[in-house]
Amino acid sequence: MQAAVLKPDPAAIRKAASLLKQGGLVAMPTETVYGLAADASNADAVARLYAAKGRPAFNPLIAHCASAEAAFAQGRFSERARVLAAAFWPGPLTFVVDAIDTTTVCSLARAGLDTLALRVPAHPAARALLEAFGGPLVAPSANPSGRISPTTAAHVSSDMGDKVDLILDGGPCSEGIESTVIDARGESPVLLRQGTVLPEAIERIWPGLEAGGSEDRPTSPGQLLRHYAPNARLRLNADNARPGEALLGFGPGEATLNLSASGDLVEATANLFAMMRKLDERFDQIAVAPIPEKGLGAAINDRLVRAADRG
Ligand code: TXA
Ligand code: MG
Repeated sequence: MQAAVLKPDPAAIRKAASLLKQGGLVAMPTETVYGLAADASNADAVARLYAAKGRPAFNPLIAHCASAEAAFAQGRFSERARVLAAAFWPGPLTFVVDAIDTTTVCSLARAGLDTLALRVPAHPAARALLEAFGGPLVAPSANPSGRISPTTAAHVSSDMGDKVDLILDGGPCSEGIESTVIDARGESPVLLRQGTVLPEAIERIWPGLEAGGSEDRPTSPGQLLRHYAPNARLRLNADNARPGEALLGFGPGEATLNLSASGDLVEATANLFAMMRKLDERFDQIAVAPIPEKGLGAAINDRLVRAADRG
């Protein structure tokens, strides 16, 4: 059965919280991408969540909390990590720290690790749901494992509508790519996933940010997996489209769809996944214009390189 799609008004939030209490799965909007939420403490619900996504059980989930205080009760934050959290929460920055309480976020959600990824999202509907639920919610992106993350309720409905109990429609996501993830356990933070909180913004508050691992030397289980896979073949750094190709443009010029005609990286990031999906529906081959490898461009290129990788 196809899940209902509801605007996140108070009645829908109450219904969503009660479904989650019963072990259900609820798709919720966040400022980054749509998440598939489950009660972090309920191992049965979390098992259903992994199954619904087809996600390997070695890849841990992010626990979302209503406030920094709630997150600090779950994980060991150094003084510097707290200062960084205060600067960016609520918002698209996820901290990997040592877990304190090992039952509120169950072992399955942590993939058996002693560490825990924590985030306080900024989207008003996610915040309202976390408040109403009254505990941490684990929420991976609401897409089948390995596919393009959803940035609208319609994306969730078409990808996962028969696997979730309710979809909250909070409109298109403002950021458009998943949160920046750092390992905050050491003297210096380590970048595990690029996002819209940029390295230089982290550096200003906690200097010494180190580059994270790679597929060869993974520091986060997620780095091992194929990601953002469209059905179409992607050709990157393309100056124009060859016959049969769609062109995903950036900056002025002809394009099938343009991430940002004015060359604005914020706009391009917000459009990235939705436009990849649109072209994927109509074309087998997509050429992608070069995106400058600076600022947010690096986070966009990270997604594009993984989407183009057919290995
Ligand atoms: O923006 C986001 O973060 C979205 C929204 C819904 O909040 N969520 C999201 O979740 O992107 P997911 O499950 O698709 O990505 C979580 C990433 C994975 O790459 C995972 O490997 C990593 O965080 N991760 C989770 N726990 C970790 C841990 N203890 N150590 C290292 N990496 C961890
Ligand atoms: Mg994901």
